[in-house]
Amino acid sequence: MARKLVVAIDGPAGAGKSTVAQLAAKELGYTYIDTGAMYRAVAWKAIKAGRPVTDEQILAAVSDIAVRLHYDGKVTQVFVDDEEVTGEIRTPEVSAVVSQVARLGPVREKMVEQQRHMAEAGGVLMDGRDIATHVLPSADVKIFLTASLEERAKRRWKEMREKGYDMTLEELEADIMRRDKADSEREISPLVQAADAELLDTTGMDIAAVVRAIVERCGR
Ligand code: DC
Repeated sequence: MARKLVVAIDGPAGAGKSTVAQLAAKELGYTYIDTGAMYRAVAWKAIKAGRPVTDEQILAAVSDIAVRLHYDGKVTQVFVDDEEVTGEIRTPEVSAVVSQVARLGPVREKMVEQQRHMAEAGGVLMDGRDIATHVLPSADVKIFLTASLEERAKRRWKEMREKGYDMTLEELEADIMRRDKADSEREISPLVQAADAELLDTTGMDIAAVVRAIVERCGR
């Protein structure tokens, strides 16, 4: 049997990471770990304490949070303190505050510790912003997944429409740009392509082609 690898996939918002990473993990028989969902889970809990969300509220939320991901080989269910929040962490409200959450040191320390622990056994495919640079610097395969801003906004627009949200392409483009800027310019573990990561620009590629490209890089 082939050795079980540790695969790190990073990239900006809307690059399609979770869609393709999930499918690639399934094909490889690996566990998929969506680290963005973990930061979204913290944001969701912080919002519950009221808006506007303050840093104090976020730190209080993370201090005793239990985030659990359950990947069944197809989809990832997300639990916060045993309550399922899979759908609720993908709302525009959560997207609007998640960068504020993800820039705080105590939040990142807690999430990163848990992420490293989840990768210990190998046979994992983890996606996020700082996986190759910080969480799993010795990952076997490192991919930086991106696409043009227009294409990323279009993909998000389709996804949001399917979920019943009425957002314009311009709104989504602005949201993605704002998040990319916040995630790339933050002090702790900013979004950056690792020196040893391979760039995969998916502009114009369909989902199956991207999945194939990832699986091939894992030696299959
Ligand atoms: O991948 P996503 O859009 O669900 O991620 C949500 C936010 O979490 C994103 O704006 C940046 C942050 N994030 C991060 O800082 N580090 C990670 N490893 C994953 C996500």
